[in-house]
Amino acid sequence: MTKDRKLIIAGNWKMNKTVGEALDLVTGLKRELANVKELDLLVAPPFTALSEVSKAILDSNIRLGAQNMSEHNFGAHTGEICASMLKEFSVRYVILGHSERRQYQKEANDLIARKAQAAHAASLKPIVCIGELLEERNAGHTERVLETQLRGSLAGLTPEQIEETIVAYEPVWAIGTGVTAKTDQAQSAHAFVRQILASLAGEAVAKRVRIQYGGSVKGGNARELMSQPDVDGALVGGAALELRSFTEIVKNSI
Ligand code: PGA
Repeated sequence: MTKDRKLIIAGNWKMNKTVGEALDLVTGLKRELANVKELDLLVAPPFTALSEVSKAILDSNIRLGAQNMSEHNFGAHTGEICASMLKEFSVRYVILGHSERRQYQKEANDLIARKAQAAHAASLKPIVCIGELLEERNAGHTERVLETQLRGSLAGLTPEQIEETIVAYEPVWAIGTGVTAKTDQAQSAHAFVRQILASLAGEAVAKRVRIQYGGSVKGGNARELMSQPDVDGALVGGAALELRSFTEIVKNSI
């Protein structure tokens, strides 16, 4: 399958994997996916495994992501991790505004925008997550929610920075539930997101931004999702925790 934008498949390990478990998984991924050049691959382990995973994937085609970072650069922020600390481990990507953080840590769009700005200032590529709740979809508010989240979370970024941002559309009702968005639901949300991106940064930039789909992606649905014109990759949670299932998603996406 050919698409102008290179697909990007990311494994979001969330709060899973000790260092030993992380190394087991990444060693397997390196072996199984060594020949994959058609798409960009990254894993986002917990902070505690970044150092070892970073060493393990040196000289491989797997890149490193973090699951969150502070909007601040240093200082009295107990428990936080800043961009320069991530860069010490050659982290290239950082997931921001995941729906779990929006829900449980009460992260709002303006905070996510400040984090995205801090990420770009440090040359980290943010993966900015947006997505509607089931109630919002059922009430016909999906587009309004996506537009508010996207405009709010990308506020203050230049068109050049928006081009280097990855957007992850993750309908909250599909995350960890086994219920995937139908391909036409995913495609229409992605096309809408691209339209908003065009109004923020111009058509040319919007055409280059990669928009990942996330929410119960599996080997069995990856191919159909990835074949949609505006779906440029996947942000994978549960199925990224096991070698077989993540490998299958990657192979079925090529
Ligand atoms: P899931 O999670 O693949 O387990 O649905 C996706 C995500 O939260 O990024």
